[in-house]
Amino acid sequence: MTFEYTLQKESTDTKARCGEFTTPHGKIETPVFMPVGTKATVKTMSPEELEEIDTQIILGNTYHLYLRPGHDLIEEAGGLHEFMNWNGPILTDSGGFQVFSLADRREISEEGVEFQSHLDGSKEFISPEKSIEIQMGLGADIIMAFDECPAHSAEKEYIKESLELTTRWAKRCQQAHTRDDQALFGIIQGGMHRDLREQSAEEITALDFPGYAIGGLSVGESKELMHEVLDYAPDLLPADKPRYLMGVGTPQDLFEGVMRGIDMFDCVFPTRIARNGAVFTSQGRITIRNATYKRQFTSLDPECDCYVCQNYTRAYIRHLIKRNEILGLRLTTYHNLYFLNDLMAKMRQAIFAEELFEFRENFYRKYGLEL
Ligand code: GUN
Ligand code: ZN
Repeated sequence: MTFEYTLQKESTDTKARCGEFTTPHGKIETPVFMPVGTKATVKTMSPEELEEIDTQIILGNTYHLYLRPGHDLIEEAGGLHEFMNWNGPILTDSGGFQVFSLADRREISEEGVEFQSHLDGSKEFISPEKSIEIQMGLGADIIMAFDECPAHSAEKEYIKESLELTTRWAKRCQQAHTRDDQALFGIIQGGMHRDLREQSAEEITALDFPGYAIGGLSVGESKELMHEVLDYAPDLLPADKPRYLMGVGTPQDLFEGVMRGIDMFDCVFPTRIARNGAVFTSQGRITIRNATYKRQFTSLDPECDCYVCQNYTRAYIRHLIKRNEILGLRLTTYHNLYFLNDLMAKMRQAIFAEELFEFRENFYRKYGLEL
């Protein structure tokens, strides 16, 4: 079989697990963080650099690539892998989130979502079938069902109707999907309501997808509320399939997700903050633009082994960022992604060694997070 998830280790004192997911473009060791490459590029990073820092899988966005340059063009190029020269695994999100967060005006019906492009106001329509058509054209290894992600402030009644629509759409996605070299993952919704999460998980897992995502989190709710949902939501999903928490990616959320049984994460956070001059360090996040760093001729993080930390100083990177020099953005992005890849690798090691609690405690203490 092309796609296979092998559970390699289940931690005994947490719900964390280590596994391996096989795709046509290689194996992914989980838990894993997936950098976001919305427009067929992880901003500022060449595929060679991504590989150099052991990136296992990257994410692309159906919504953006459909609007520009168009999935037909990418298909003509030989698919997303060929188009962008990335030969590792790729996951594309379905557009079922970007339509709700980016598009200017939108109208949801049973058929799909009509919206105005945030780029030029043109009228567009994405249905479950259209999303799958686009994602088959892009040719990612893992593709996502087209879902509705309601605002976390929406009424419970609305969230219930919405998750039921998401189930009907998930079935239509399955029917439209014909490429057996792609794994189509289902997405559960249900907001912050336990009974609705249970209903959604029951309906979506009944469709038997090769992997499942938890959507509708990290949409503006408090950390506490998200962790509360994560206390039970992963357990509603089968243990022998990968579990993906969508749109989550601070170091703390990665720890808290992993300990609750999540295997995959994605987020623009590390790359976006890097372009604002914020970097992760073992001693917490720092904003390199601050005057404090003007004369610090030391690396971003004394404990980091990345290329940037071996060769450049805080003072120099601060200067580059302050002067809007492109190299500054490249260096901070490179370091932040290395930091998260390294953190996930260490978490996997700690899970195998049954030391995840201690590892988290040490990390949090140094990083300045409360347990
Ligand atoms: N990215 C972050 N949250 C979501 C979600 O709920 N659905 C989809 N499709 N993508 C997401
Ligand atoms: Zn570094």
